[in-house]
Amino acid sequence: MFFISIFLQLSLSAALASWSVSYKPRSICVFERSSVDFTCSFDYPSFQTLKTTKWFKPNKHQKQDGTQQGIFVHHSEAAEIDQLYKNRTVFANQDKNCSLQLYNVSKSDIGKYFFRLETNYYRGKYTGPGGIYLNVAVLPFRVTVTTQKVYGHIHEGDSVTLRCSTENCTPEQGPFAWFKNHLLLPQATENELQISSVSHNDFGNYSCGLKNSSMTSADELLLDVRYSPKNVEITILTSGKIEQGNSLTLICKSNANPAVTNYTWFKIRDGNISSIGFDCEFSIKAASQKDDGQYFCTAKNDMGSQNSTIIALKVEVPDRHFLLTATALLFFVIVVLLVLFGLNIRRKQITPKKQPTEQTPAVTVTEEIYENLRKSPESEESHTNLIYADLNLPSLTSDSLFYRSHSNSQEDDAVVYSLLSNKE
Ligand SMILES: *[C@@H]1O[C@H](CO)[C@@H](O)[C@H](O)[C@H]1NC(C)=O
Ligand SMILES: *[C@@H]1O[C@H](CO)[C@@H](O)[C@H](O)[C@H]1NC(C)=O
Ligand SMILES: *[C@@H]1O[C@H](CO)[C@@H](O)[C@H](O)[C@H]1NC(C)=O
Ligand SMILES: *[C@@H]1O[C@H](CO)[C@@H](O)[C@H](O)[C@H]1NC(C)=O
Ligand SMILES: *[C@@H]1O[C@H](CO)[C@@H](O)[C@H](O)[C@H]1NC(C)=O
Ligand SMILES: *[C@@H]1O[C@H](CO)[C@@H](O)[C@H](O)[C@H]1NC(C)=O
Repeated sequence: MFFISIFLQLSLSAALASWSVSYKPRSICVFERSSVDFTCSFDYPSFQTLKTTKWFKPNKHQKQDGTQQGIFVHHSEAAEIDQLYKNRTVFANQDKNCSLQLYNVSKSDIGKYFFRLETNYYRGKYTGPGGIYLNVAVLPFRVTVTTQKVYGHIHEGDSVTLRCSTENCTPEQGPFAWFKNHLLLPQATENELQISSVSHNDFGNYSCGLKNSSMTSADELLLDVRYSPKNVEITILTSGKIEQGNSLTLICKSNANPAVTNYTWFKIRDGNISSIGFDCEFSIKAASQKDDGQYFCTAKNDMGSQNSTIIALKVEVPDRHFLLTATALLFFVIVVLLVLFGLNIRRKQITPKKQPTEQTPAVTVTEEIYENLRKSPESEESHTNLIYADLNLPSLTSDSLFYRSHSNSQEDDAVVYSLLSNKE
């Protein structure tokens, strides 16, 4: 009696303990079009014989606790397998190993999966409780940002977390790749990118994906860090030199988010600071020495303001006195050159007449003519003229004589020769 009771207790506990199914993992997320492994092991009373194994997935409208079987993903009788899963599964089919591989996962595979075994005993039927929840990550990746702030903008110093995610869920499999303005951030390989104190340098477009994969996010996230104006500086635009009469434009440049709303221009002269403009640009149409001085600008947005460094403006005045002197000198030189040039021409025009006068009278000129020549106080050219004058046209003045002898030199010479030969 005692032994029988011991035996019953043992066999009962053995029989009860032997029904089991264990799943691993209990919940899983995979990318669409990839494959997934359901790791599974089971047990049943050793005195029973295993008849049927199946993986089923309850339909959406059914209970998800394993009490309603839905469609068969795997079945030891292949005909039972649902069309959606035919040829997409591999069942381990080993002793007490119920692992299942599912290929080419898609969004419609999302749901709970249960393993169920049946033996030759009437009550020998068991469904592993809990099942495995399969979620499918639908591409593309998206970047989302979370901050400790519930509302409002991200400011410098805030702690932010960028998350690389896909629709429904994000598989843990990495490594991930992060890009800022399309440049890889080599240090970031997790699906989260944490920035404990964000700065204006972190402003930019972020995208992510898997390393060594073409799967990257389609859309970029703009990390819109708000900051007061930085690097406020003045640049000068000018048509030429910073010189009297030229136009000048001073431009106040800065880096700010949101954009600068308010500019103020200041001028320091003789220790006085005065505001002179409220635009991004300060223009001077015609610069003069009045505009000399130091300038700076202030750029302001909702976050704050910053001053530019001070620039010194010195308007150059061209040296008028020097210019006038130079012009006058040049004019003088030109005049002198013209005069000299003119004299030279005159000399050339006159010289050819020397030859006939010098050669012909040398032999034939009479005492009278020599006398006449000696009396004259004028130059050699004048002598010739005088010779003609004496011989041909005594009534004319020397000026008109010059002109005449110049224009009619051949004729005059002929007259001279005839007269001279007559005297001889
Ligand atoms: C499954 O594969 C078999 C042979 O590999 C093929 O004959 C059958 O058409 C396939 N079924 C489906 C639903 O793809
Ligand atoms: C169960 O089968 C799968 C697939 O065949 C195999 O990878 C796994 O190692 C097996 N598990 C055990 C405990 O044998
Ligand atoms: C994977 O499944 C999709 C439908 O979900 C199908 O269009 C595609 O051809 C399948 N790919 C392979 C390799 O079977
Ligand atoms: C971010 O992307 C938007 C839209 O493509 C673009 O307009 C903007 O200039 C980008 N910003 C930076 C900092 O690259
Ligand atoms: C500049 O800021 C002042 C307040 O600081 C405001 O009253 C003024 O309207 C602003 N000017 C412009 C052009 O936004
Ligand atoms: C500075 O400005 C004040 C007030 O505008 C004026 O009275 C004073 O003459 C200025 N001083 C100089 C050196 O320009």
